[in-house]
Amino acid sequence: MTELTALFSEDKLRTLLQPGSFGLPLHFFKTIDSTNDYAKKIAARGEPEGTLVISEEQTAGRGRMGRSWISPPGTGLWLSLILRPTFIPSQAPLLTSLAAVAVAGAIRRVTGLSAGIKWPNDIIINDRKAAGILIELSAGERFVKYLIVGIGINVNTEDFPEEIRERATSLHICSGRKISRMEILISVLRELERLYSATIHNGDFNSILERYRSWSVTIGRQITATRSGQEFSALALDITPKGGLLIKDDAGMIEELISGEIQNLIFSSKK
Ligand code: BTN
Repeated sequence: MTELTALFSEDKLRTLLQPGSFGLPLHFFKTIDSTNDYAKKIAARGEPEGTLVISEEQTAGRGRMGRSWISPPGTGLWLSLILRPTFIPSQAPLLTSLAAVAVAGAIRRVTGLSAGIKWPNDIIINDRKAAGILIELSAGERFVKYLIVGIGINVNTEDFPEEIRERATSLHICSGRKISRMEILISVLRELERLYSATIHNGDFNSILERYRSWSVTIGRQITATRSGQEFSALALDITPKGGLLIKDDAGMIEELISGEIQNLIFSSKK
């Protein structure tokens, strides 16, 4: 950790961001309800691609599937980035894969931890969730107006509320040392920008998907998925070119899940 990245403050962050790169304009809050909600509001008013909304604390942080995301001050990274991709809305799931690879890659680079990806975009270390991604989209039929990439990373969290203690972890718990939030943040922004600019113009997500597969903690595992409200068990076979999950159910039927939620066996202890 360098002197420059050790402390986390708006002033420090501004010295590390470069005009024209992801992270500026910057909206930095001490506290906010949800960075995704704020990012949606300002994106609708026309804030440009690359705008970052970040807060020390969220009072109503949101996770996927209508869950809440616990976001206390001082320990984690709670941020939302505005993107304005030119591709068609049906390609949006691939942005989910891209964001997961960027976050896992940044964590790996800064901490040396083997961060894995649970489909579609949970970041898993030592079988527990260290970070989550919530992508929200405003789109017409043929184009995306804006897309919000919401990222929550448990960086220096030491303990979690009872209801998630069994399933959650932090970079600090996994590495045994304090991790610079600034260093993780800058690395996430750079990685997102690098992958996004490498793919967005030619629409070729192959190398991202290859990386995604190699870090997947889902492929090859028996999982529990939900179809029309009914749970069933299946084997996770592969990640498809659309960023979906290819599964084979116990009757041998193969299908592609495009979104939704699965549970790897590693999480089944909560049931
Ligand atoms: C999940 O795994 O369910 C997704 C969690 C996403 C949490 C982040 S924290 C910053 C941004 N603002 C929110 O309200 N949610 C996302």
